[in-house]
This record gives sequence, C-alpha cells and structure tokens, in this order.
Amino acid sequence: MNETNRKGDLMTDPIDTTRRTLLTAGAIGAVAAATTVAIGGGAHAQSTTPGAAPPPGRRNLGGLQVSEIGLGVQNNARTFPTLIPNRDAQVDLIRAAYDQGVTFFDCAEFYGPHECERILGEAISSFRNDVQITTKFGFDLDLQTGEFFGGLNSRPDHIKRAVEGSLQRLNTDRVDLLYQHRVDPDVPIADVAGVVGELIDEGKVLHWGLSEPGLSTLRLAHAERPLAAVQNEYSVLFRNVETDVLPLCRELGIGFVPFAPLGYGFMTGAIDMSTQFVPTDYRANTTRMDPENREPNLRLVEVARDWAARKGATPGQISLAYLMAQGPDVVPIPGTTNLQHMRENARATQVILTADELVELTSALDAIEVQGERAPPIVEEWNGTEASDA
Ligand SMILES: NC(=O)c1ccc[n+]([C@@H]2O[C@H](COP(=O)([O-])OP(=O)(O)OC[C@H]3O[C@@H](n4cnc5c(N)ncnc54)[C@H](OP(=O)(O)O)[C@@H]3O)[C@@H](O)[C@H]2O)c1
Repeated sequence: MNETNRKGDLMTDPIDTTRRTLLTAGAIGAVAAATTVAIGGGAHAQSTTPGAAPPPGRRNLGGLQVSEIGLGVQNNARTFPTLIPNRDAQVDLIRAAYDQGVTFFDCAEFYGPHECERILGEAISSFRNDVQITTKFGFDLDLQTGEFFGGLNSRPDHIKRAVEGSLQRLNTDRVDLLYQHRVDPDVPIADVAGVVGELIDEGKVLHWGLSEPGLSTLRLAHAERPLAAVQNEYSVLFRNVETDVLPLCRELGIGFVPFAPLGYGFMTGAIDMSTQFVPTDYRANTTRMDPENREPNLRLVEVARDWAARKGATPGQISLAYLMAQGPDVVPIPGTTNLQHMRENARATQVILTADELVELTSALDAIEVQGERAPPIVEEWNGTEASDA
C-alpha cells in the first residue's frame, strides 16, 4: 500500500535513552515549570487527588494519574474497518511502550471494531494493575459482532451492555477512563452521566470523559458527574481547541487528551507533496490534505523541522512537545504501528521547551494559516454536538 513515502521512517531520533534514564530524568522533570515539558517514565500509581501535584514523570487528568505521554492503539485505523496489519506485532508494540515508561493506553470499542480492545487486553494482561486504560462507547455498533450501523447510540441500556462487552474484551474488571466517543444529540447528557455514574459506583469504571463535545454539554456533563478528561483532536496542524474547549477544561479542572497529536502523521514529516493516500484512508477525505492545501500546510512541518534541528529532536517530537508544553494537564496519545516510531514518540517527553521558546514557537505557528478542513463533512457533523438537554 502506497500510504506514505516513508521518509519519516528514515528520520533519525537523536534522543535515545533507556527506561532507566527516563526514570532518572523524571526526577529532573519534577522541577519543570507548568509551561515546560517534563520528562517521562515513573511509577504506576493509578489515581490521585485532583489538583495535587503528580510525582515526577506523571500527569493528572482530573483525578487519574497517567504517564506524561500515552499510546493510541487504534492501529492505523484511518481506514474503516480497521486495518490491523499484524496482531502479534501490535501486542509486542504495546508491551514495548510499557517498557519505555508509557502506562496510558487509549482504545475504543469502535477500533477494530472490538479487535483493538482484545489486542490491548492481551498485551497488558501481565501488568494490568500498573497501567491506565481507556475505552469509548457511543457509536451504534452491534454489541456482538461490532458491525457499525452508521450512527450514534448513547442510550443508557446500550451503554451498559457496551461497557460489559469492553470489559470482557479488555480482559479486566474496570476501565480507568471511559469516554463517550461522540455526544448523541438524541440522549440527554444527564442520562449518560447517570448511567456512567452507576458504572462508577459499581467499580466497573473509575473515571469518565467526553470526546469532541459541545461546550454546553461539557459544562452540564461535568456538573452531573465530574469529568476527568476531554479527548479532542489537537495538534500543531489543528490548534482550534486553544480558543475554546481547552480553556473551558482549565476552568473546570478537567484534563485534556489530544488525539491525532501528530496530525495523523503529517507533523512527522512523513507526508509530502508526492504522498498518495488510498481512497479509504481517512486523510484522503480531509481537504487539508488536498494538494492545494497541503502545500501551504507543509510550512508547519518546516517550522517543526527548524525547531527539531535546534533542539536535537525530530519534527514529530517537537510537535508532541508543543502540546505537552501547554500544561501538565495535557497528555497526548500518538498512535503508531511501528516500534521505532513508538520509541521516538515516547521520548518526546525529553524535549524541554522553555517558556520563552514556547512563545517563539507559537508565534511561528500563528503566522501560518492552516488551509482546508480537518474532517469529512459526515464526521464533522459529530464534532461539537450538543446533547438534547444542553
Ligand atoms: N476520540 C476520537 O474520536 C479519536 C479519533 C482519532 C484518533 N483517536 C485516538 O488517538 C490516537 C492517535 O491518533 P492517530 O493514530 O489517528 O494519529 P496520530 O497519532 O496523529 O498519527 C498517527 C500516524 O502517524 C504515523 N506516525 C506515528 N509516529 C510517527 C513517527 N515517529 N514518525 C513517522 N510517522 C509516525 C503513524 O504511522 P506508523 O504506524 O507508520 O507509525 C500514523 O500514520 C489513536 O490511536 C486513537 O487512540 C481518537
């Protein structure tokens, strides 16, 4: 499959350490200011008091303590149904990420569908108590087969049964962080909070969150049952969240988990004007990747490359470091099927941007106006949706 030109695979990662040096470096990170990037690794504690400072190498999402960077386990799900190239390799990759200090793994019933939860459950079985796993409900899937019926479904009875299925596939008795994948406009968010609250009371779910919610829904959901995190698209390529949902999360004390933090690979430098996407690739259907938009948008990658040279890093690491530098409540979850890429991404925690550097980098990014839309219209319809009571 001619998915990308693979240039990014050849890019060297100048930052190379073992888990041991990551852990040592974590101690240094403890003194990093809120506007700097701390350093990864650390203990595997699960929950903490909201507002309390996490130990070195950890970050707080509401009351959930996680590694500074996570791993998305969607496994190249830019096509639907998900293309899982090599199941065993994905299991190994998750285990290698854990060895690298990553303890926060992002999943959903939708990924696979179902299969990515099984892969994650298998991969973490021997260290389940040392990691924090997420999954998501909210798309209208057949609960047995995972067949996608094309819409949303957050009816309380459906949520309950969906979570039972997730727990089975993940081979666990609890989900550390359960998200509503998209707000269902036909179901009051109070009802969703109610049923998730019951799951929390039963111990099957420890924390909950929303993905791409409308702002009123976010406020109302948090008032009904406090949220640990919002998971929205956020990358150097898509910074719109900085003006609305991220400040609102800060106001409410909710953590922020950027999905597609590498701009679906764009910010690694692996995509250029010669890259051709297969028609089922999600990126083939987003206008920001159309050649006439891609060309101006590639200026962002040039900025990341300049900073990479300056900081002894890679463009992808600079892009992740930019997100982590926004504050200690931001935990990106880059996705990859490639072991070297995973290691490179995990080491982005070592790229320290000072407050002055962050200002300078931000102003270079501000000077570039991103062209094109981030999502196809059918997907964009689900973003920023308000529930019927919000
Ligand atoms: N809540 C939601 O609606 C939602 C939506 C989308 C994603 N997500 C979550 O967010 C996670 C991450 O998103 P994503 O994987 O779609 O996008 P991403 O992390 O921005 O980028 C992934 C792409 O970048 C490539 N890549 C990763 N690291 C690289 C590196 N160091 N050098 C070169 N290429 C690299 C990957 O290819 P290789 O496999 O070749 O490395 C893949 O094509 C997902 O796994 C999922 O858990 C959530």
